[in-house]
Amino acid sequence: SSLKELDDGVPSPNRTQNRLAEQNEGSLEAGFVNEPDTDPALVANREWAYGVIDQVADSGFLASLPTPAPLGSDEVDTVIARGRKAAEGWAARPARERAELLYRVADALADRRGELIAVMAAEAGKTIAQADPEVSEAIDFARYYAQRALELDSIEGASFHPVRMTLVTPPWNFPIAIPAGSTLAPLATGSAVIHKPAPQTVRCSTALIEVMWQAGIPRDVLQLVEPVEGEIGQKLVSHEGVDQLILTGAFETASLFHGWRPELELHAETSGKNALLVTPSADRDLAVADLVNSAFGHAGQKCSAASLAICVGSVYDSERFRRQLVDAASTMVVGWPTDPASVIGPVIEPPTGKLRRALTTLDPGESWLLEPRQLDETGRLWSPGIKDGVAPGSFFHLNECFGPVLGLMRAKDLDQGLALQNAPDYGLTAGIHSLDAAEVTQWIDEMQAGNLYVNRSITGAIVRRQSFGGWKRSAIGVGAKAGGPNYLTQLGQWSPAEVPG
Ligand code: ALA
Repeated sequence: SSLKELDDGVPSPNRTQNRLAEQNEGSLEAGFVNEPDTDPALVANREWAYGVIDQVADSGFLASLPTPAPLGSDEVDTVIARGRKAAEGWAARPARERAELLYRVADALADRRGELIAVMAAEAGKTIAQADPEVSEAIDFARYYAQRALELDSIEGASFHPVRMTLVTPPWNFPIAIPAGSTLAPLATGSAVIHKPAPQTVRCSTALIEVMWQAGIPRDVLQLVEPVEGEIGQKLVSHEGVDQLILTGAFETASLFHGWRPELELHAETSGKNALLVTPSADRDLAVADLVNSAFGHAGQKCSAASLAICVGSVYDSERFRRQLVDAASTMVVGWPTDPASVIGPVIEPPTGKLRRALTTLDPGESWLLEPRQLDETGRLWSPGIKDGVAPGSFFHLNECFGPVLGLMRAKDLDQGLALQNAPDYGLTAGIHSLDAAEVTQWIDEMQAGNLYVNRSITGAIVRRQSFGGWKRSAIGVGAKAGGPNYLTQLGQWSPAEVPG
């Protein structure tokens, strides 16, 4: 069935709660305002959400959704040549025309919020509450990159030369927001894009790209392909007609791609082993709430998720703090997105490898404060787990496990806490809960991670306000962070000194 038909079944929610966003809509001159999430306090929005859930619960829904065109080995050259040819005309258009199309994409995404949430819930298991902000973020990326492209274009004497072909390989864990941002940024600069979805979420990518096409992005400028075999993916990534690759995924995937073609310009957002540090000065009630949200939101399968709670001295030793943490985690409802009460949804597939080890094995010194349990025969629903006594340098301290497990570590003071927090090879997100200004200042100075959060959860970066990107092994080749002011300029040759001819 077509997207239009699907969308007719689920109208967009009532958005009147945010007048600023309305004023911003469609206006090239207006300032940037983040798109609001759906407000569940409005009765109309709750009714709308039940409509989305009914659609997801329909057993034929997933099978009815379109999937990308399979890409055969002999088609790789053609697809790349088509895109490179289209890039000439695309880059020659005035920046304003491309920006206008991005604003149209933003409006179309807002109109199709219900449908996009339904696809995410059905295909990736995202709960409605986790999927809704993802649509807001996709809209933000579209409007923010459009605005930045216009601002950069208006700088006198500056010029920007885009690359011709960008390959985008997004992740499955944010199957609308990250694919949207990674695709729209190069498009805004004038590059053509080939979008290769994550295999787990091909329908999410298809729904997204169809929205972009329908909003007016030409089909040869933006192509959607699904390599039918791994070898074809390798051929695509290694092809000399690809100028740059925007990847979000595991560090191992980025390394593999780099190995295939070392000279390829890679913008890779990769793994994390993220911790939230809690000092004795913290508001512990807030720390507990932010810990469980950061650790168990989307079943812990966010690159930004908190996987360690590093507790300084009396926090670690406090029975009350542990009880609060266990109570908070064990009252989070685990279930499928078709149950509106679900807070923790399914993991993307039955756990294997590091995640299975993290869920089922204790290393020396460790004990379960809250033992995770597999809740049904699908193997995808797990109650959250909290591991106590994680030892410095141990498997769980240093490895990204990507699921609903939080490990507790003890530090004797802030210095030792920082050392434990900085020990993993990765540096994506990090948080501190402390009400002591000197502690916070020292922590900000010494913490090596791309996104630092003080007294809040460590997931859910907001476009423009908290641009997102990693440090150390969490980023390969990315200079400027996504959703931030300089992201576009790194996607081509930016010549501030050059006078246009
Ligand atoms: N941008 C996502 C977050 O901040 C990964 O949680």
